[in-house]
Amino acid sequence: MSTARLDLHDDIAVITLDNPPVNALSHAHRSSIVAHLQAAEANNRIRAVVLIGAGDAFCGGAEIREFNTPAALAAPITRQVAEAAEALKKPVVAAIHKVAMGGGLELALGCHYRVASAGAAIGLPEVKLGLLPGAGGTQRLPRAIGAAAALDMIMTGEPRKSQDLATLGLIDSIIEGDLLHGAIGYARALADRAAPLRRLRDEGVAGDNLPALFAAARERVAREWRAYPAPVCCIEVVEAAAFRPFDEGIRFERATFLRLVETPESKALRHAFFAERTAARVPGLAPLKDLPPIQSVAIVGAGTMGCGIAMTMANAGLSVVLVDVSSSALERARASIADTYASALARGRIDAKAHERRTSLIQFGAELSAIGKADLVIEAVFEDMAIKHKVFAQIDALARPDAMLATNTSTLDVNAIARATRDPGRLLGLHFFSPANVMRLLEIVRGEHTSDQTLSRGLALSRRIGKVGVVCGVCDGFIGNRMLEEYLRQAYTLVEEGATPQAVDRALEAWGLAMGPFRMMDMAGQDIGWAVRKRLKIDHPDKRYSTWPDRLCEAGRFGQKTGAGVYRYDAGSRVGQPDPETARLIAQVVAEQGTPQRTVSDEEIVERCMLVLANEGARILHEGIALRASDIDVVYLTGYGFPRYRGGPMLYADQLGLAHVVQRLRAYSGALMGDALAPAPLLATLASEGRRFNE
Ligand code: 3HC
Repeated sequence: MSTARLDLHDDIAVITLDNPPVNALSHAHRSSIVAHLQAAEANNRIRAVVLIGAGDAFCGGAEIREFNTPAALAAPITRQVAEAAEALKKPVVAAIHKVAMGGGLELALGCHYRVASAGAAIGLPEVKLGLLPGAGGTQRLPRAIGAAAALDMIMTGEPRKSQDLATLGLIDSIIEGDLLHGAIGYARALADRAAPLRRLRDEGVAGDNLPALFAAARERVAREWRAYPAPVCCIEVVEAAAFRPFDEGIRFERATFLRLVETPESKALRHAFFAERTAARVPGLAPLKDLPPIQSVAIVGAGTMGCGIAMTMANAGLSVVLVDVSSSALERARASIADTYASALARGRIDAKAHERRTSLIQFGAELSAIGKADLVIEAVFEDMAIKHKVFAQIDALARPDAMLATNTSTLDVNAIARATRDPGRLLGLHFFSPANVMRLLEIVRGEHTSDQTLSRGLALSRRIGKVGVVCGVCDGFIGNRMLEEYLRQAYTLVEEGATPQAVDRALEAWGLAMGPFRMMDMAGQDIGWAVRKRLKIDHPDKRYSTWPDRLCEAGRFGQKTGAGVYRYDAGSRVGQPDPETARLIAQVVAEQGTPQRTVSDEEIVERCMLVLANEGARILHEGIALRASDIDVVYLTGYGFPRYRGGPMLYADQLGLAHVVQRLRAYSGALMGDALAPAPLLATLASEGRRFNE
């Protein structure tokens, strides 16, 4: 099937990339573009060619799904498409609207001229997929805009606006009005004046003191992106552009690209890209259309979570009323929101206009009746079922009959909460993560009565407010916190066996987690973990229970907020210092229990903590709490500081091989953990069939 088409506008050929949704360069699409370029060359009536994209993008780059398949290697590869454009003997103009990414920009770099609509986002984001631009972009972009600007774009993967790139010389003209019309006029003018065919391959790379530029970039990579190989490779290829002949640079780029595309890190990052987009799809749910829009939100409960949710909504342009019957809570909320916005303004994260708009979108209400006009009412009160029931009885009476209702509970049974309302179909769980205005994850909890329309509205809302929504069923802790309990249980036990808390944190952070378990719990509040443990102990008396964290809490060590938890904190500091008192307390508990002590390796710490995440994930999948393994990965990537280049706990297990995972879990079973490490039935089955979680 031809995915590009050629139309004649008198003497100008227009080749339209038409491969929805983003004109990605699949093999068929690449072949089709090259065929049209050749046809345009052969037709003597044609004096110039315009390349333009149909739909919402010029081109989103290479077809990512083709990587690691024969189609990705089949000629013409994307680099050859760019070369075909560059080799034409008549002017070729790329006309860019909305988006040109990766191979899309590389194709445009092969064209002799580039025009764009204002506001188009143009970039080389390959590094975010653990890759580098592999279609000549690393060699042509530095020749177009100089080494420094090109290196920055390639290393960070951040797109830039077409106007900026016009200033840098990448875009020859910003077209006002109709792009196609403007581009045809531009191409015809080039032909009329027999303009030179500007081939970037023939240009030099501008830049002063290049060795210093590359040295500084290496330092930056060592500081910020130690963990995976792509960023440093980006520096090497741009260096090649600066110091080696074009063709040699191209060969080096290709060889490096082919190496990177096989790395587990790149595969994990690509998994993460698709996993986030797939999460929004719920099998069997009608497409999201004609949904009553959500423009106004009432939030009941003005604590930390309520404030964070209020700001999230206002940041997305929704009007908010934050309600609390306690006037002191309301005053604290008002001050805290004002502080957050003032600090964002002072740091230049928002401008004065945004500050004014966001601030004015949030109203405060001391009476519950203030929820009466809202399209959506979110309850964010204390985690106590009796309180939730009482609050929902009031919400039920005061909210509009067509309003959607949500609970922000992180632990309680959403079905039981829904039963306190007259129409449980309009209620779901919206589990935001703290700080709600920062964290990207939103667990959308589908109760047994939640209607399809309510769920669809929840999904649409999560997109509108810029969250990654993951649908999950009702269980204790939903996806993320339920798995976290197993992970923490492992971390506590490792300490009883002889690891220090700081060794556990260090090993997991070196592996890539944003924060080890003890630093995380000190930040979240040890008292919160304590309350959860006490509750779970009643529900699951069979599960292993470490008492040493309770002893910390009994001593009032709740973490950062009390100046001491597992770590000790100097006044005003968030940096924890190892505390001899914690070590003494652990030693005392271990001695009372008579637990044998041994040296625990970093490998064991990482392995056990990761394996239990995947094992509990398998149970969650089996029970249908998560729709797919990739959704579990998304939860960990966006809500728990899991390193993106490891793809999430389920993909990590897949990459290890499930048979290996089963074998390692069995090897660790027994001793202190008893059968808590026994492989989950789904994991054992998939392993025995040689399958993966993410298939
Ligand atoms: N390949 C395959 N599918 C792609 C794709 C690509 N390069 N880019 C986007 N898509 C798909 C998405 O998966 C999604 O599919 P779905 O509707 O089935 O879920 C659909 O296109 C729309 O994508 P978004 O939901 O992300 O739409 P947005 O409008 O928000 O964003 C975009 C569009 C800016 C193009 C964004 O999708 C994006 O950043 N895409 C990736 C760009 C990229 O990384 N390109 C480099 C590819 S590697 C490369 O080019 C190698 C070369 O150097 C050789």
